[in-house]
Amino acid sequence: MKNSTSSQTDIYTNPLTSKKSGSLHGTLRVPGDKSMSHRALMFGALAEDETMISGLLEGEDVYNTAAAMRAMGARIIKGEDGLWRCFGQGIGNLTEPSDVLNMGNSGTSTRLLMGIVAAHPITACFTGDKSLVNRPMGRVITPLEQMGATFLSRAGGRLPLAIKGTEDAKAITYKLPVASAQVKSAILLAGLNARGTTTVIENHPTRDHSENMLRHFGIQVTVEKTDANADAISITGGQRLLGCAIDVPADPSSAGFPVVAALINEGSDIHLPRVGINPRRIGLYETLIEMGADIVFDKKKIEAGEPIATISVKSTGSLKGITVPPERVPSMIDEFPILAMAAACANGTTYMTGLAELRVKESDRLLMVAQGLKACGVNLEMGDDWLTIHGTGKPPQGGATIETALDHRIAMSFLVLGTATEEPITIDDGSPIKTSFPNFIELMTEMGACFDFSN
Ligand code: S3P
Repeated sequence: MKNSTSSQTDIYTNPLTSKKSGSLHGTLRVPGDKSMSHRALMFGALAEDETMISGLLEGEDVYNTAAAMRAMGARIIKGEDGLWRCFGQGIGNLTEPSDVLNMGNSGTSTRLLMGIVAAHPITACFTGDKSLVNRPMGRVITPLEQMGATFLSRAGGRLPLAIKGTEDAKAITYKLPVASAQVKSAILLAGLNARGTTTVIENHPTRDHSENMLRHFGIQVTVEKTDANADAISITGGQRLLGCAIDVPADPSSAGFPVVAALINEGSDIHLPRVGINPRRIGLYETLIEMGADIVFDKKKIEAGEPIATISVKSTGSLKGITVPPERVPSMIDEFPILAMAAACANGTTYMTGLAELRVKESDRLLMVAQGLKACGVNLEMGDDWLTIHGTGKPPQGGATIETALDHRIAMSFLVLGTATEEPITIDDGSPIKTSFPNFIELMTEMGACFDFSN
């Protein structure tokens, strides 16, 4: 199942090079939203009856979620019609996996599944690739321990770890110490099978796909404002998820790569249909528009509780540097690497602050972006949680080989930059791109982007 086409596998080589491409054009279908794809499979496995999923992201991270749900008893199949069908067994009925769950590169799969397992009377062991085993899991372990699960992990709550869930999980009220949809979701998912009402309080709104999709499966999720104007999101245990149909929209985070590619290559004009435009995901687009980009959301509608639109982009000359408001960070948390590429081509200085979470993503993204851009000739400064990029109004020189540290977004960001720089940009390893955007090279090539496969 993993290598759906051999041509896709073959071109995601290490290394991989992009080169000056000229203007980009076309109407292109970006793959399904990664956050929603994980959730559709997980919730389908917890539901009674059949869940039918169209538009699922067929990338490695999502395959890892599917494999884990199968290992815990769900039946998940892809039909000849291209639709995915998930036959769940109801909350509380997952079975103990007989082997270690290897979650590859996927933090979302790991953290959300830890929440699900915490409220089941089973033991599961999780591991992952070199990137995932360095990511902090303590942020999920702390609340799940309060709910009654027990953990054995490496130092600092790192994978590999074992979790022993409980059939008698306690509902808790938990104030998120970091703005994280993964932590919020893990707690709410444990709350589905806990005694009483579990409440998560978040000061900074993070993506709400779990809340929206759980409602779509028939679960009552309430959101109230606290005295401090935070959101208190609550779920009462003992409800049932009912199988349903889900049409996953295109991923606004993945769409960011062709969008910025179009913006930094003058004369470009592209259209991306059916992209999710959940207000908690579109910080990149708001920022690019403030930088002077011509981006239009057209044909807006709501599908499965989520807004979608066609995103149309025209390149009308250079962008301008701006200050990105720190309160916008959660709505563009995955988009700073690609924003940094746009900032490197913009006219003037772009100030980005509140970026501490970038240090604990698939790689230390702040460092990888700063290091890579410097190697391409960009003038910048970096601090613990901030980045300042001084653009000259034209793409930098390029001509560097970029370390990507198993990070798909670092890999795609620098390949995008390489379509506009004077000299080609090489990334050390293209293979992680398959975690989230398995046809990235094909789609970019279709737009007119140039790659060199001779390495
Ligand atoms: C995600 C939440 C974010 C994001 C990740 C996907 C999700 O992580 O970076 O790519 O699907 O809930 P955090 O919760 O760590 O911010």
